Amino acid sequence: MIQGGHPLKGTMTISGSKNAALPLMAAALLADGPITITNVPLLNDIFTFNKVISETGTQVTFAREKRELTIDPAQMSSHVAPYELVRKMRASFYMTGALLGAAGHARVSLPGGCAWGPRPVNLHLEGMKALGAEIEMDGGYVIAKAPNGRLPGGSFTMIPSSVGATVNLVLAAVRASGKSVIRNAAMEPDVVNLCDNLNTLGARISGAGTPVLTIDGVDCIKSGTMNNTPDRIETGTFMIAAAMIPGSDVTLTDTLERDLGSFTDTFSKLHAGLEIGESSIRIRSADRIPPVSVETAIYPGFPTDLQAQWATMMTQADGKSTVTDHIYPDRFSYVPELVRLGADIERRDNMVTIRGRSKLKGASVMSTDLRASVSLVMAGLVAEEETEVLRVYHLDRGYEKLEDKLNSVGAVIRRVSD
Ligand code: UD1
Repeated sequence: MIQGGHPLKGTMTISGSKNAALPLMAAALLADGPITITNVPLLNDIFTFNKVISETGTQVTFAREKRELTIDPAQMSSHVAPYELVRKMRASFYMTGALLGAAGHARVSLPGGCAWGPRPVNLHLEGMKALGAEIEMDGGYVIAKAPNGRLPGGSFTMIPSSVGATVNLVLAAVRASGKSVIRNAAMEPDVVNLCDNLNTLGARISGAGTPVLTIDGVDCIKSGTMNNTPDRIETGTFMIAAAMIPGSDVTLTDTLERDLGSFTDTFSKLHAGLEIGESSIRIRSADRIPPVSVETAIYPGFPTDLQAQWATMMTQADGKSTVTDHIYPDRFSYVPELVRLGADIERRDNMVTIRGRSKLKGASVMSTDLRASVSLVMAGLVAEEETEVLRVYHLDRGYEKLEDKLNSVGAVIRRVSD
């Protein structure tokens, strides 16, 4: 329940990145002994992945207060990721590459559908075949095997560039017996962070952050520490929230502007106050928001994970703008919900047109996925009266203590159970 009309003023701490932590957790399975991952956020997707990893007999210990997760694969005895868990979170499919790399075989459920359209895994599977894996389907499961227990390695060109497939192929290739080359690889900071952490523990990966990754297989990954990065999507979300809510002045700490890619340039077009520090970003809302159209693209382009939030802000801009998603053309389930709040927003194919500025008024709206949910909360923060956002469990997958963080800077949000 969100009471709108309160400016955000104060400091918010950015949590560790969900999308960067998940690959590190999978990579821990490749190590000879325990891996401790720092700055792990307290999120349901992390808890789900802990369960997936535990299913293999791997020991998982989460020191929640310290945000430190220790994963020790020494006792790994099973190589299965079951449907009951994989269907809850698609990134569980990282178990395919991790188990293939660690043990030479994997039985991992196919993830199935998604609330915002088809999300195929063809590149993950074709890529693993190119690295030398034998792939079969059995009862909704992918069975991946390395002949003679270890992948030989190989070359694969990814079209389109996929974050998930790049992560999976890196996991599969790190301990291969030979060399692998991934072309048109994802350049997202999440991939770079994975490669950097693996390299400090003995991997030989070059080209991270460029479209060509070269992985020389190594015999072992040492036990040690992996460092997670700040959540760039949480950072972008709060930057947009602060810019859109009149009278706001927010400082985000424990974050890294360099991971935002071109988002900062796009954000600058809003003429909001923007001060970038070494690990902080201060945002002050401007009196007027100009219409700024965006199109999503792979990193360093505008992230698809921020388009719903941007479209929500554009309902408060003076004029017409568009938001186009080239990565996930169906990711617009928030549009009819924003209309319920009074927005003038219309979807055609992979583009929405927003005519601002609309006076939003509180209503009941339904969350459909993670980024749509946070956008509805943000809309509630500028709407008159009270907005009720239903099914907020989507939020808990990817935003740590969202209402506590927002309330600490002046928002008025209550979580009520149904
Ligand atoms: C990751 C992020 C997600 C983000 C997305 C794009 C995680 C856990 N999730 O998802 O938050 O929105 O990147 O930045 O990190 N594709 C194929 N075949 C495949 C795989 C992907 O055609 O086998 C296509 C997809 O349909 C999509 C594009 O590639 O159009 C990019 O998707 P991808 O980068 O794979 O997204 P995810 O890794 O699933």
